[in-house]
Amino acid sequence: MKYVRVKRLSRRRNVTNRNLEQQTEYIRRVREILSQRYPTSEPRAFVHTYGCQGNVADSERIKGMLAEMGYALTEEKENADFVLFNTCAVREHAEDRVYGNVGALKPIKSEKKDMIVALCGCMMQQAHVAEKIRKSYPFVNLVFGTFAIDRFPELMYRTLRGGKRVFDIEERENVLPEGLPVRRDSEFKAWLPIMYGCNNFCTYCIVPYVRGRERSRRTEDVLAEAREIVASGAKEITLLGQNVNSYGKNAEDCVGFPELLRLINAIPGDFRIRFMTSHPKDCTKDLLDAMAACEKVQRHLHLPFQSGSDRVLKAMNRRYTRESYLELIQYAREVMPDISLTSDVIVGFPGETYEEFQETLSLIREVRFTSLFTFIYSPRKGTIAAGLPDPVPYSEKSRWFSELLKTQEEIASVRCAETVGKTFEVLVENETKEENGMLTGRTGGNVNIDFPGSSELIGTYRNVTVTEAKNWILTGRLAE
Ligand code: SAH
Ligand code: SF4
Ligand code: F3S
Repeated sequence: MKYVRVKRLSRRRNVTNRNLEQQTEYIRRVREILSQRYPTSEPRAFVHTYGCQGNVADSERIKGMLAEMGYALTEEKENADFVLFNTCAVREHAEDRVYGNVGALKPIKSEKKDMIVALCGCMMQQAHVAEKIRKSYPFVNLVFGTFAIDRFPELMYRTLRGGKRVFDIEERENVLPEGLPVRRDSEFKAWLPIMYGCNNFCTYCIVPYVRGRERSRRTEDVLAEAREIVASGAKEITLLGQNVNSYGKNAEDCVGFPELLRLINAIPGDFRIRFMTSHPKDCTKDLLDAMAACEKVQRHLHLPFQSGSDRVLKAMNRRYTRESYLELIQYAREVMPDISLTSDVIVGFPGETYEEFQETLSLIREVRFTSLFTFIYSPRKGTIAAGLPDPVPYSEKSRWFSELLKTQEEIASVRCAETVGKTFEVLVENETKEENGMLTGRTGGNVNIDFPGSSELIGTYRNVTVTEAKNWILTGRLAE
């Protein structure tokens, strides 16, 4: 088990030393209660994370706190004494899965009465969701939103003391969960949040409502954590934020994002740097130059364009145009010819016409992305787009969606075929599930290659030559 503790505390933005001291005291009290309740063996905690890497990083902090409370982490919820789902609200499908999985806990809980069931994260930050949980899922003991993560020990204490169910979905200003213990899922790949929240209010998106306003961690705190990650032996750091390009805006104790990349790049050690997500409106040539100049920063840019139509982009409040997006891509390829580009796309935004959707397809053909995350528009309660007329039926949007997938698959399979015979340095990540003795490595461009090898190679860099491309799945062999 590995712990990386961020020692420096931010004195501003409401995260006070006092709160941290209080929470440390609550951890002690929880530990005491648990040692009385489970005198012979450690209680077990199961944490499941939905949604983006920001949520994964939050869960790693929650797991850090759980470990300090005396919980052992388990992968089996059936045997757990504490079950937590860290939820996502970005699309309806994400929420439906949570309701389904919470419902499935009911029989487990009725067998195991003292099991604590807790829900947290973006979905819970919505009042209507918390209300539904309160009414329809009475076996849920604890619900807390994204603004309460730094108060988790206190909430656990109140839950364990019994009596009332505990709900905390209060919106607090400027919460920066600084100083919390972290239990990372991987020993060689680390998530490093550099900012929280979002100010952009893209009209389809729930994130600004459930995550609050954008706030950057102090550069000093980010660098301290990066150094600790490197010292722990990690091979890859991914900097996280909803819009990393605007890191440090309007904050005195922060540098800008390009400079942050340079500073992290200067930390001695053999590690890769990645970051996400970039917003095209704030992605500058300066950032692309910094990427090109920093040898540890991988040649991969995830730059969501969402739509290829200027009218739709405007209705989405994205604040860039097709032309300015393509200009950025062109510049990125000029300064980094081998750059791998990935993106997010939404099909069926309210009022989008088939002709406008065709503009999305033409942009995809023009850029030839390595891969795409594709979504059918999902109305989110409280967002502007949810109130717009949406005349195209879902069945029609599904047809467009299939067309989009087909277009991208054709591009990806041609791109993959082009890599056969080439050698890439990969970070070996895991064994493949499908076949024994096969490993998966990730290239700098964020492409997976499967190759035969022993599990001792996991967590190391290896050179792998691509021997076969089947559609968009690459197979290779060790080059050494
Ligand atoms: N901050 C990132 C994206 C975060 S959400 C950015 O601005 O790029 C990840 C992706 O989910 C978005 O890029 C978008 O493509 C998709 N998404 C967000 N809200 C959605 C909705 N209501 N319906 C469908 N897809 C959505
Ligand atoms: Fe959502 Fe837009 Fe913010 Fe991304 S930038 S999280 S899509 S509001
Ligand atoms: Fe989902 Fe929240 Fe991330 S809504 S995508 S978990 S910021």
